[in-house]
Amino acid sequence: MYILATIFIYLTALSGAHGYRGPFRRLYPTGKPTVLDVNEDPGEPLFLTPYIEQGKLAEARNLSLVNLLPLKQQSFSGYLTVNKAYNSNMFFWFFPAQNGNKPDTPVMLWLQGGPGSSSLFALFTEIGPIYIDANGYIQLREITWNKNYHLIFIDNPVGTGFSFTDNEEGYARSQEDVARDLHSALTQFFQIFTDYASNPFYVTGESYAGKYVPSITYKIHVENQNPQVKVKINLKGMTIGDGLTDPLNQYMYGDFLYQIGLIDQSQKAYVDLQTALMRYAIEQQRYIDAFHLFDALLNGDLLNTTSYFYNVTGIKNYFNYLLTDAPEDQGYFVSFITHAERRKQIHVGNLSYGSQSDTVEKMLMNDVMQSMAWKVAAIASANYSVMIYNGQLDIIIAVPLTMEWVNQLNWFGADELHQAPRKVWKVADSDSEVAGYIKTANNNRFFLATVRNAGHMVPYDQPRAMLDLLERFLSAQPKSPEEKQIKTV
Ligand SMILES: *[C@@H]1O[C@H](CO)[C@@H](O)[C@H](O)[C@H]1NC(C)=O
Ligand SMILES: *[C@@H]1O[C@H](CO)[C@@H](O)[C@H](O)[C@H]1NC(C)=O
Ligand SMILES: *[C@@H]1O[C@H](CO)[C@@H](O)[C@H](O)[C@H]1NC(C)=O
Ligand SMILES: *[C@@H]1O[C@H](CO)[C@@H](O)[C@H](O)[C@H]1NC(C)=O
Ligand SMILES: *[C@@H]1O[C@H](CO)[C@@H](O)[C@H](O)[C@H]1NC(C)=O
Repeated sequence: MYILATIFIYLTALSGAHGYRGPFRRLYPTGKPTVLDVNEDPGEPLFLTPYIEQGKLAEARNLSLVNLLPLKQQSFSGYLTVNKAYNSNMFFWFFPAQNGNKPDTPVMLWLQGGPGSSSLFALFTEIGPIYIDANGYIQLREITWNKNYHLIFIDNPVGTGFSFTDNEEGYARSQEDVARDLHSALTQFFQIFTDYASNPFYVTGESYAGKYVPSITYKIHVENQNPQVKVKINLKGMTIGDGLTDPLNQYMYGDFLYQIGLIDQSQKAYVDLQTALMRYAIEQQRYIDAFHLFDALLNGDLLNTTSYFYNVTGIKNYFNYLLTDAPEDQGYFVSFITHAERRKQIHVGNLSYGSQSDTVEKMLMNDVMQSMAWKVAAIASANYSVMIYNGQLDIIIAVPLTMEWVNQLNWFGADELHQAPRKVWKVADSDSEVAGYIKTANNNRFFLATVRNAGHMVPYDQPRAMLDLLERFLSAQPKSPEEKQIKTV
């Protein structure tokens, strides 16, 4: 156990230096955390659950307030305890919409993937109201989801980013564990922030969140029908960007890599064999074997050497096939949020950032290859709004692989979606640039979109097109949805 802990610390130290760790995570530039000086005061972490339990909701809200100039708008952050026995706590950061709160202003939860990638990545590099420049200064983002939408970022699952647990048993081993902890955090959140509880609620995220998003969406749907659960969440739908959702139907990299010119015929034969073995292992429910095959072929997260993909292409960045390395600016925020003064402002005290990420992934190793497609099908069948979108330049979650699993989805709108015309989409009619392609089904409740000139992180690469896509999706939703019912099994 001690040796294991030492290795984890060693790996963490490595990741700080090189900035690469995580499937879907190894490549997130992690930046360089600021090392706390003994003389600096990072303040104390703010645990809000005791205030909720004592009914001190206004106080909890006041304490969680964050003022981060030059951002004029207030935000709120702190910890919600999701398991007392193991001292498991989830960190959230909430940004009310810049244009104010109307009854129909959507509340959007954002979940990063990984497993083990912090949702603060998207806050600072993709969709939030602020970003950090090369000099470490805070800047206002021009195109942000936060203008018209309330945004909640949660470091998920426990152990990710600023979220943590004190006990090995506290880590999620399955999507059921992930959903249980998230549901606990969300119901606590809405007890404090009651002003937003009746707004339409959407779950959004990317990458490995292709599994988290349907899992928490489905959980909310089920718990909303549970008479024992007091806090109901006004669930409307979900969006998944470049998501891993259904590995069995997604892992066919050979044709794709060959057709985009990254491998030759004999390399394709090797990739085809490895992916066939992966799918065979999944069918046999040997999920850990399948994970290791994936890791050696492409992912390279828990590998002690380089992946086959890197060996044959020389490309480190499987998030965008036009780039060799991940963009450096994606890591700038890390030293910012780990600085003593910022720690005090966002209420994390001296708690470590990202040091449990490798453990998060290891604990979920048996989960990675298991499909969540049945939850997507159940959610779509119950007439919630669902949008699946993908950047055209992504490798690890490539467009044809997303098309494939969505095409295999077993729900009543499958034929309609299959036959629906794929429409050319421009942000403005006068644009010369084509933003991408959209198909819809079930009275616009189901959107399937491809975004051009974007890799894995679509909002980072194409912020204007992504926001337009989201606005189109939300405004196309029918006003009075039919009654929702999921058959729970
Ligand atoms: C919360 O802050 C507001 C505004 O500063 C103040 O009026 C109110 O008394 C505070 N409430 C609690 C419970 O601390
Ligand atoms: C990588 O190395 C560590 C420590 O030497 C070892 O425990 C682990 O099993 C190795 N992983 C793989 C995938 O070979
Ligand atoms: C990639 O190359 C390294 C160095 O030659 C080798 O050790 C490793 O086994 C290769 N990886 C795979 C998955 O073949
Ligand atoms: C964090 O601060 C607490 C006191 O607030 C202290 O007991 C603990 O040792 C500190 N941890 C680290 C890693 O500095
Ligand atoms: C979903 O909507 C379709 C028509 O749009 C309707 O036929 C079906 O009954 C609805 N399903 C549920 C579970 O509400």
